[in-house]
Amino acid sequence: MRTDTPQAIRLADYRPPAFLIDEVHLTFDLKPNTTRVRAKLQVRRNGDHAEPLKFNGERLKAISVAIDGRVLADDERTIDGEFLTIPDTPDAFTLETEVEIDPEANKALDGLYMSAGRFCTQCEAEGFRKITFWPDRPDVLSRFTVRIEADKAFHRLLANGNLMQSGPLPNGRHFAVWNDPFPKPCYLFALVAGELDVLEDKLVTMTGRPVDLRIYVDPGMAPRAAYAMDALKRSMKWDEDTFGLEYDLDLFMIVAVRDFNFGAMENKGLNIFNSSLLLADPATATDMDFERIESVVAHEYFHNWTGDRVTCRDWFQLCLKEGLTVFRDQSFSADQRGHAVQRIKDVKALRARQFAEDQGPLAHPVRPSSYMKIDNFYTATIYEKGAEVIRMLKTLIGPEAFRRGMDLYFERWDGHATTVEEFIRCFADVSGQDLTAFFAWYEQAGTPQVTLKSTYDAERRELELEIVQETAPTPGQPTKGVLPIPVTIGLLDGDGRTQAFERDGQAADETVVVLEGPRTKVTLTGVDERPVVSALRGFSAPVKLTSNAEARDRYILLAGDPDLFNRWEAGQELARALILARATGMADEVGEERYAEAVGRALGDQAADPAFKALLLILPSEPDLALAMAPADPAAIHEAREALRKRLALHLADELKRLHLGLQEMGEFSPDAAGAGRRALRNAALDLMAANPRSEVGELAFSHYEAAANMTDAIGGLAALALIGGQRYESALSDFYERWKDEPLVIDKWFAVQARDPDEGALGRVLGLTAHPAFEAKNPNRLRALVSTFASFNPVRFHDPSGAGYRFLADQILATDGFNPMTAARLVEPLGGWRRYKPELGKLMKAELERILASPGLSKNVFELVSRSLGED
Ligand code: TRP
Ligand code: ZN
Repeated sequence: MRTDTPQAIRLADYRPPAFLIDEVHLTFDLKPNTTRVRAKLQVRRNGDHAEPLKFNGERLKAISVAIDGRVLADDERTIDGEFLTIPDTPDAFTLETEVEIDPEANKALDGLYMSAGRFCTQCEAEGFRKITFWPDRPDVLSRFTVRIEADKAFHRLLANGNLMQSGPLPNGRHFAVWNDPFPKPCYLFALVAGELDVLEDKLVTMTGRPVDLRIYVDPGMAPRAAYAMDALKRSMKWDEDTFGLEYDLDLFMIVAVRDFNFGAMENKGLNIFNSSLLLADPATATDMDFERIESVVAHEYFHNWTGDRVTCRDWFQLCLKEGLTVFRDQSFSADQRGHAVQRIKDVKALRARQFAEDQGPLAHPVRPSSYMKIDNFYTATIYEKGAEVIRMLKTLIGPEAFRRGMDLYFERWDGHATTVEEFIRCFADVSGQDLTAFFAWYEQAGTPQVTLKSTYDAERRELELEIVQETAPTPGQPTKGVLPIPVTIGLLDGDGRTQAFERDGQAADETVVVLEGPRTKVTLTGVDERPVVSALRGFSAPVKLTSNAEARDRYILLAGDPDLFNRWEAGQELARALILARATGMADEVGEERYAEAVGRALGDQAADPAFKALLLILPSEPDLALAMAPADPAAIHEAREALRKRLALHLADELKRLHLGLQEMGEFSPDAAGAGRRALRNAALDLMAANPRSEVGELAFSHYEAAANMTDAIGGLAALALIGGQRYESALSDFYERWKDEPLVIDKWFAVQARDPDEGALGRVLGLTAHPAFEAKNPNRLRALVSTFASFNPVRFHDPSGAGYRFLADQILATDGFNPMTAARLVEPLGGWRRYKPELGKLMKAELERILASPGLSKNVFELVSRSLGED
């Protein structure tokens, strides 16, 4: 166990920077093992801050440090592996430093590193300190000029902003100089150098300014950037139309790299993407890939205003840019692909990741108040719950006030680093509403439990709604306050038709009840018959809702709620109850039949969108069900869920066959929502059919795989074969491997399919795959395809009673921590839920966490998450 316990950093300790840097010139002399970085900084003391100069700097070999042209002697500065400290400086001066770094040896993929023989950078959150000495914090904004020198083999030399100059140098080298006119924090710095192909396009902005668009990719891959380019242009247009936000430079560049810790990064004018979120064509990418590319391209582009032009004062404000930008990308995707389907997918993701986080030892507020490593806070809570908070804000003050608040935010804060308080203040100012209570959404962790009781009085034609809220304690927050929760409500009659009502004398079809205390009572009048209550429509708040509605009401909602989110939700609630009943030995066979019939009727609805029907066919996931069972028993959940799938497969056999046949791809492939929706429904039908024990299903799945004209159907077939197992699965797997072995992104999928296989032999297979020649532990995509997919999406095998699944994950965490702490830490989460599982499993999970904690040389990243996961007990 380590003795020097890392220290936490606290929001309450925030101090403005002692020194500011207005201007910087950086010169990179790029060599794989010995890159020289020379920095010339215009530094000035910030106000009357008296502290000595203390800049970050890690893994830097210092060559020289000079002030105003004079090289400092060793006793005039200290360099200790974390900081450069200069006790004595003027109030305004030029600081010149030269350091040497080793990008080739950098497998942490943070700072300047090499991927596939190219130089690239990742500086958020704290990578810039591995490039040069700097006050590495987001509230120091500077204008950057960057000169890159490299061997001509590194053909493209890219950095932020505009290209000022370029040309040859002696000895087969060349150079380029870039200038970014917008002051920015160092986490938005980027540099790329290497052999790359480019896809070029152009766009004229709303004020008539032409912008060059360039996407740089591996040689030969330019055609696969076409979809990302199209998504980029649609994003740029959407941000103009929706928020009046125009792009500000003459050039916008994206580079795709294979080795990347996260999805993508919003560096000013030079976004860097994980190639898995950029490259796509029908042969190698699934519809889900296309969908994610569209949303991530939009997300990073939208950061240009929400993140780059207005940035965060400190890392506690991370949700200021991330929650807001996710909200913006979700709104964009909804406009592109349909609001209901998008909302259902977003809520599924929120529940799977954020609700799980909120129920475990890693629960934290949207704006945390302390951390050890900020890298560990790029969480579902900051991103997804952060987006939900913005969505509620919009619901509470209305869309017009919301837009005016956004305008005011840019007016006040463009070119600055700011806080969540200042953001919320803009909306309070434009709406005239007191948003003090709303701020609690940022400071209180945990998912509120909302309980709704409705009582109908036929004589008075009144419906009384009594709504109670309660939030369970989370680590460090034993007592919880009240939150303003918007609950959108509509009423149906017994035939599933909308029932009008009055609230406070106003006629309405739908109303938003805002919970302002622990208990809220509302009376709706003019309610002609006993209503079916459709509550929390569109998932109007990130809460868990329970109500006194009966199964009969849910069937009415499933058949006809005009709110499609709640139509889907009713089906999920019915299925969840049936599966959990069976998992605890109380199977309701009659209920299961009734459910199968209702799903069959919903499938027959000619008016419904295929993408929506596909979602109706998918039962709540095993991790989702585990959250609702205490203590959770993954094996029982798996069995019970499979039993319901089998019942659906048998009951709907003819209908599923018809769907599968009828939705066969005819004309040309289009990645648009309509085409993707048809393929999703067809593959969902096949997936359900795979639960049918009849033998011809294997044949059907195999021919589905063989006939696939695109990757969506190939993976659909392969995944169905994985469920069926046997020789056909084995031969499809080896066929797939042979066909795609030279395509890393496709081989990632090959690993992931096997990691998800719920068959009993899967754990052994997964262990074996770590020795496969194509398994590359140092590549985060490949590592996650096997390890995270297994731990997060294959609960029945991960929770093997022997504990071998846990041991496997712990071994991978330790091995990865040796070179890439950020990625290692992101593997910890599946073990964090140990308290929620059956004691015999929980004990084994806990033992693995303890084994990790006792290992020597653990990174701060892994230490923080493992020690928090264990908690005090
Ligand atoms: N800011 C990025 C985004 O959400 C996230 C990100 C990319 C990141 N790379 C990172 C965060 C490395 C931390 C470390 O768009
Ligand atoms: Zn982001």
